[in-house]
Amino acid sequence: TQELRIALAGLGTVGTGVVRLLEENADEIRARAGRDIRITAVSARDRTRDRGIDIASYAWEDEMAQLAARSDVDVVVELVGGSDGPALALARGALEGGKHLVTANKAMIAHHGAELAAQAEQAGVSLQFEAAVAGGIPVLKGLREGAAANRVERVYGILNGTSNYILSAMEKTGRDFTDILADAQELGYAEADPTFDIEGVDAAHKLAILAAIAFGTRPDFGAVETGGISGVRAADIAQADALGYVIRLIGMTDCAAGEDGKPRLFQRVQPYLVPKSHPLAAVDGPTNAVVVEGNFAGRLLFQGAGAGDGPTASAVVADLVDIARGNPAAPFGLPVASLASSSPADTAER
Ligand code: NDP
Ligand code: HSE
Repeated sequence: TQELRIALAGLGTVGTGVVRLLEENADEIRARAGRDIRITAVSARDRTRDRGIDIASYAWEDEMAQLAARSDVDVVVELVGGSDGPALALARGALEGGKHLVTANKAMIAHHGAELAAQAEQAGVSLQFEAAVAGGIPVLKGLREGAAANRVERVYGILNGTSNYILSAMEKTGRDFTDILADAQELGYAEADPTFDIEGVDAAHKLAILAAIAFGTRPDFGAVETGGISGVRAADIAQADALGYVIRLIGMTDCAAGEDGKPRLFQRVQPYLVPKSHPLAAVDGPTNAVVVEGNFAGRLLFQGAGAGDGPTASAVVADLVDIARGNPAAPFGLPVASLASSSPADTAER
């Protein structure tokens, strides 16, 4: 069987992780994918930057969009970020050109996921984005495939590693918020714009994607009520502790049919008081944990590293293995034409 040829856009935290993983685990990947997965071309902003990896054997494109036009590429892997701009242009170009697309870009999928999935369907190629939600945890595969036979009742959890890292470090050390955010940035957990992490926007992107898969709706990021942890003080954490709670940034979604028959989605991200006895209270550092409640499966808990180079690369390459095997699932679990539009729930009642 022919090798699967990859173009990699973005050689930052996640991109360099993907290069290292494809090299280090090449034997395991070949065995499971049934063929080699090989990088042929790459692009980033600065060709000369020392990234701690050797890119000399890959073709370099100064113009990222050109990756989509190359005849030696089967899959474009977008690891640049941003909901629009060059990432979206590359994604559209790749699908238009009949290439498969793998991305870790939750902002782009939350805003444009349905449109891109429709384009992929039309072109007869795959769109996969496991790494976009909860880093290394295969929660989209778990929800879409493992829980496929269920009516999903609720999905909730810790969806932003940076916020969880900050909250749990504040708990343990009493250190200042801004110091700890700088650590999270240094470790590669934070978004290019870290206000997305601390104001709940990144978690809201992920929640919109989870809700779409759980409830068969188009992603509706605009309807997520979003709050973050920037207002949480050491005194709040001490007070919560005295009452038997910890503070965690939680995303939560459920869905009920409205009088018009349309699904009415409840989607909210905000800091919650979590009783110390609850499994989510013990989740610390950049770890994520997602609970899926299904009507036959019961409560499923997906937990693991939600950010960082290795875990995120693991999810990206798992998508490549699916494509190499030739059987990836529809990205939202249903054909795009079957995805319902949603109406925001009347949150005043909750
Ligand atoms: P980084 O900032 O570390 O890397 C971004 C890469 O994109 C860099 O190589 C940069 O080039 C390149 N780039 C940025 N803008 C342009 C442009 N205009 N043209 C060409 N190249 C460009 O980001 P991450 O690796 O952390 O994140 C990548 C994606 O993965 C994002 O969508 C993010 O949300 C997502 N993600 C990140 C996780 C993490 O833990 N970091 C986890 C899950 C998802 P150069 O290096 O030359 O500056
Ligand atoms: N900035 C994100 C986080 C990266 O902290 O969770 C993983 O999506």
